[in-house]
Amino acid sequence: MLRLDALTKTYKTGDKALKAVTLDVPPGQVIALIGPSGAGKSTLIRCINRLVEPTSGSVMLETTNLTTLRPAALRRERRRMGMIFQEYALVERLTVMENVLSGRLGYVGFWRALTRRFPQKDVDEAFRLLDRVGLLHMADKRADQLSGGQRQRVGICRALIQDPALLLVDEPTASLDPKTSRQIMRLICELCAERGLAAIINIHDVALAQRFVARVIGLRFGEIVYDGPPDGLTPEKLTEIYGEEDWEATIEKVDEDDAVEAAE
Ligand SMILES: Nc1ncnc2c1ncn2[C@@H]1O[C@H](COP(=O)(O)OP(=O)(O)OP(=O)(O)O)[C@@H](O)[C@H]1O
Ligand SMILES: [Mg+2]
Repeated sequence: MLRLDALTKTYKTGDKALKAVTLDVPPGQVIALIGPSGAGKSTLIRCINRLVEPTSGSVMLETTNLTTLRPAALRRERRRMGMIFQEYALVERLTVMENVLSGRLGYVGFWRALTRRFPQKDVDEAFRLLDRVGLLHMADKRADQLSGGQRQRVGICRALIQDPALLLVDEPTASLDPKTSRQIMRLICELCAERGLAAIINIHDVALAQRFVARVIGLRFGEIVYDGPPDGLTPEKLTEIYGEEDWEATIEKVDEDDAVEAAE
């Protein structure tokens, strides 16, 4: 459903952040994108919806080549790609409900958006989503009164109310404690499964990636150096992706997490 072909990004500074990345994402597949800081994970995600303009190569979303679209057509296609960020990007002084509904701004007309009068079906869907993520009782709270985990749930609802075909997720758990991180990661993966959504989840925490997804892609210096199942990430492979580190410790942590999980 998504195909990147020789996708390349060289920033003005000369940084070669992506080097001819080619990647196929089948419908409904959830991929974890791992790699050290500066590997190009955020650049990859942002080149897909052109928050960052690729230098060369192409991005096909189903039959549409996103890389050549003009602004109006790009805006329409962006509705099909929900984004979830580390820093949530909520509007602090708006309520939870208003933040979720802002995900519909790509659809409702200008005047409606300006007066924040959304169609009833959007409001109903927002309530359904908030209920699904366990935040129904918080609909009227202001965003600045929420915990990090709650804020990320709002961010998830806001992405899903767009009714996207693909989720692009950049470090969804980077600001969260370990238990909340697991809950958020599980929630995202469950929602993708329920809705048949494909996703690329850019994530620092290798153990979390390994636990929740069936396909992991390792990026290093802008190139794919691993593409396969989580259990193929041997200490040698992880060293290739990240450089020297004590990977036995990470692998032990996965086992430990499993124990914690079983107890929860
Ligand atoms: N706006 C920019 N201008 C110039 N160089 C940039 C810009 N954004 C990123 N880079 C460079 O591109 C490379 C890839 O950065 P990117 O943010 O994609 O990495 P990342 O894998 O997401 O890292 P992190 O895990 O720290 O978020 C880095 O060398 C970075 O310095
Ligand atoms: Mg990043």
